[in-house]
Amino acid sequence: MAYETEKQNAAAAAMDYVEDGMTIGLGTGSTAKFFVELLADEIADGLLVRCIETSEQTRALARSLGVPLIPFEQVDRIHLTVDGADEVGPGGVLIKGGGAALLREKIIANASDHMVVITDPSKDVAVLGAFPLPVEVTPFGYTITAKKVHEALVNSGIERPRVELRKAPQSLDLLVTDGGNHILDCHCGEIPDPARTAAYLSGVPGVVEHGLFIGIARTVIIGTETGARIIEY
Ligand code: 5RP
Repeated sequence: MAYETEKQNAAAAAMDYVEDGMTIGLGTGSTAKFFVELLADEIADGLLVRCIETSEQTRALARSLGVPLIPFEQVDRIHLTVDGADEVGPGGVLIKGGGAALLREKIIANASDHMVVITDPSKDVAVLGAFPLPVEVTPFGYTITAKKVHEALVNSGIERPRVELRKAPQSLDLLVTDGGNHILDCHCGEIPDPARTAAYLSGVPGVVEHGLFIGIARTVIIGTETGARIIEY
């Protein structure tokens, strides 16, 4: 499958950041899956870590591989979080949420000492926005919230956004996130000022969280066919 080797190499490079005794946040998605699998191999060989999952999907994966999980509420420090991204822009600003896990992903990444992003070269962009920006909204009033999100995007400088409610895979039903919310996929084309857009979106009642991660990633690892390119922020 396309980018498989790059994703695998990015995950392998992220293992260099893992140390015995760490509490580690586990991301969601196909790239994060490679990391969980590599971590499981090391745990089987004696590595002592405990982990927190960013989604029910990752929880199931971790459990199936024997990766020790602890409830987030019992943790006072997360040393490291390793997660994928849908786009990585200048300054390490991310779009996340393609897998609908952005709320837990952001809470856990933001609570971590160090977020390492693992990705493939297709996600490395000069301007964010080709990937639709996911915005998580409460089910209560979501149609009005969608209109207000559209307004906020326009006011933040996006020319002709299109806001679409995400459907559950292979279904006509709306997707429901692990947190019981819906996702608006905001087709922006380009997001010229991510910080401004983030601020406008955060100001809309009914928006639980948006997929712009600003100032959270400290390391971005872009896997290549033969290794990985590492950018520190
Ligand atoms: C899930 C995410 C993922 O990290 C993002 O969608 C990237 O996934 P993949 O590694 O499968 O390309 O944000 O909510």
